[in-house]
Amino acid sequence: MRYAIFSDVHANLEALEVVLDHLAGVDIGRYFFVGDIVGYGADPSACIRLLASLGAVMVCGNHDWAVSGDLTTDYFNEAAAAAVEWTKERLSSSEKKFLHGLALVQEESDFCLVHGTLDHPEAFDYMTDRHRAAKTFYTLKKSICFVGHLHQAGIFAETSDGVVGIPASGSKKLDKRERYIVNVGSVGQPRDGDPRACFCIFDGADRTLEFQRLDYDVKRAADKIRAAGLPQTLASRLYAGR
Ligand SMILES: [Fe+2]
Repeated sequence: MRYAIFSDVHANLEALEVVLDHLAGVDIGRYFFVGDIVGYGADPSACIRLLASLGAVMVCGNHDWAVSGDLTTDYFNEAAAAAVEWTKERLSSSEKKFLHGLALVQEESDFCLVHGTLDHPEAFDYMTDRHRAAKTFYTLKKSICFVGHLHQAGIFAETSDGVVGIPASGSKKLDKRERYIVNVGSVGQPRDGDPRACFCIFDGADRTLEFQRLDYDVKRAADKIRAAGLPQTLASRLYAGR
């Protein structure tokens, strides 16, 4: 069975619709979402509705829990904190309740999902280096851990030589003897210099990962952010993919 695994939509409806339209045309058995439905973008309600209707297995991101009131924004930068406040004012109590109800970790038979790191999911740390990856491998009871949060696709492998980083693009066949942490990148606010929406398709039968990028209407998403009165930098960064 093929799984669509994606993350960090950040209320970018234009990017989400393009990705879901594409996925509807390919053979996808199940959908998995690795956190941050809301925050930064101008369409939080529509994105919550779409993801909820998809029946996706989901975990919470730090922005989801900041908006639901479960997490302080003390360590958020100014634009991110402003976007959290903006989003809070626009979501209904049932939408906030939905965000509040998202789990920190989801486990399937062969893999698990967490937004940041598995050793302290509630801390929303970034999976930036081999040391962070090693801590997650120590906690991991499955063969693969899918993560988001960094907004950059990437892979760490636990090999006989230790933990190594592997570039994530195109198609990758996973070795059955090794375990992996896979960052699936970001649909709605990529930060790897490529503005296109990023997501991943995982084939559970032959253990193949496929990283995909899709163009979407960046101008429309950015114009909506400006018109909404959200911080302007949140619009301009979409063009740069930063
Ligand atoms: Fe995020």
